[in-house]
Amino acid sequence: MRVVSGIQPTGNLHLGNYLGAIRNWVRMQDEMGDGEQCLFFLADLHAISMPHDPAELRKGTLEMAAALVACGIDPAKSVLFNQAQVPQHAELQWLLGGTARMGWLNRMTQWKDKAGKNREGQSVALFTYPVLQAADVLLYQATHVPVGEDQKQHLELARDIAQKFNNDFASEEAPVFTLPDPIVPPQAARIMSLRDGLAKMSKSDPSEMSRINLADDADTIMKKVKKAKTDPEALPGEEAGLAGRPEALNLVTIYAALTEGSVETVLKDFGGEGFGKFKPALGEVMVESLRPISERFTALLEDREALDAILARGASQAREIAVPTLEKTYESLGLVRG
Ligand code: TYM
Repeated sequence: MRVVSGIQPTGNLHLGNYLGAIRNWVRMQDEMGDGEQCLFFLADLHAISMPHDPAELRKGTLEMAAALVACGIDPAKSVLFNQAQVPQHAELQWLLGGTARMGWLNRMTQWKDKAGKNREGQSVALFTYPVLQAADVLLYQATHVPVGEDQKQHLELARDIAQKFNNDFASEEAPVFTLPDPIVPPQAARIMSLRDGLAKMSKSDPSEMSRINLADDADTIMKKVKKAKTDPEALPGEEAGLAGRPEALNLVTIYAALTEGSVETVLKDFGGEGFGKFKPALGEVMVESLRPISERFTALLEDREALDAILARGASQAREIAVPTLEKTYESLGLVRG
């Protein structure tokens, strides 16, 4: 079993990232058996597919590394690194570029959402982004990739690329790439914005009120929860009563995920209550769950050298694991290497 996943180091780590992905990374790391391995990385190469400020990216990369460690990623157990220190990611992306099809990339919903009506004006990197993402996991022969719902389509593309490459350039007995399985949590796979229950919670939402950042202080969290969009009705006693009430469903889902319960158990406790009672309870749960993370985060940020060292060591371990697959890929394609 080899677990691989990544996160873009743009903006703050938010509750959607945490509940949809990072919490699963930590669980998988902690349950790892002998001979198994977890690799987690900051997708800084992906971040340049959108307009960006270099100084912000540099700062964001270190901050995201600190945030992941604060959430429980242990660099002594997992390989933690940033893509830019492992050039094999970019190399493999190019090699897979001969296999990925334009039509496949054209169907990616993230591309369609981000490009909108202005496809011609987008960077080439935004279009080929999913090929780099495929390289990220295929490079390490990943078997499991813990992600939120929104990344599932990219993982399916990675499988398609791996399959076509194996068919075209390898034998059935000795495939070059392992087909990775996405691991999406049964609950909290898609945490929604606090301002709009139909839009996902996202780093790129211009409104800070739409998301809870892991580094938010208690007052900020309480304020954001209090202002969260809801409807005037009380909470129902059963899940069916949340149909057509996306904001209410989202808040109940967050409560359930943070308390390790289910939507049903939360409604058992709060059914019949209005948001005047539920919101402060939810705010408390958030503050208590995030407090240890944000304390560790603040402390880690103070030691810049330690963060640099963690990433340098992780990158060196990652390069070592990456090289054999990369060499095999060059060879399968008939590219001559000295
Ligand atoms: P990114 O940086 O947008 O998000 C990181 C992880 O958080 C999950 N996530 C969510 N889960 C639930 N609810 C939400 N509102 C929410 N928002 C984000 C994402 O699904 C993701 O798991 N392309 C990726 C980064 C990446 C990657 C990879 C992931 C690059 N290479 C290889 C896996 C494997 C991205 O932009 O995630």
